[in-house]
Amino acid sequence: MKLIDRLDADHRLIDAVAASFLSWSRQGGPPADLARYLSFFRDFVRGAHHRREEEILFPALVQHAEVPGDRGPLAVLRREHRELDALLAAVEAPGDRTRTEAVTALVHHIWEHVDKESSVLLPAAWRRLVRSGFPELPVAPETATEGVARGAGEALVAARPPIDDPEVVRSEGCVGCAAFAYACHGLEAEWWNELEWGHYRSIDDG
Ligand SMILES: [Fe+2]
Ligand SMILES: [Fe+2]
Repeated sequence: MKLIDRLDADHRLIDAVAASFLSWSRQGGPPADLARYLSFFRDFVRGAHHRREEEILFPALVQHAEVPGDRGPLAVLRREHRELDALLAAVEAPGDRTRTEAVTALVHHIWEHVDKESSVLLPAAWRRLVRSGFPELPVAPETATEGVARGAGEALVAARPPIDDPEVVRSEGCVGCAAFAYACHGLEAEWWNELEWGHYRSIDDG
């Protein structure tokens, strides 16, 4: 499915630019690159990628794949998209914190978000949409602004290779999600219907 493939590819770039930004912050990159990183997160992540998720994927899941839009994973992911704005503002004007602390908070937020979307949301969305007989979703052509932002992101990664943060354990599934068990009870609890639970139990019973 083209949209799912596109979102997955977006995540790989977003993940890498975030890790490159962490390197810029911790190892002292050129000050002028700060504006380039911020533009990528505003124009590509917020301006294009989040719109693909919130305006195309999420409504399709609600309308065609029996997914609730007002609670569970979609509500958590939408809220996290809004939180990105505050984290970007804190990088621009760190206040009491250092800029490195503000960048670290932003990068950790992005990593956790893309990890849960790539490992939980996208595979489940693909399965549900295919099963519902609604397999193809439109991918709008890249706008000029998005294209410039994508190119800038790729150039930043090439100029300053991504680094890991030894303090962060990247994970797959719902377990690594900060909202798990308090704002969302996991994909199965939030999304599965009686039929799916019945199918699961019949497999489990052997
Ligand atoms: Fe997202
Ligand atoms: Fe995403």
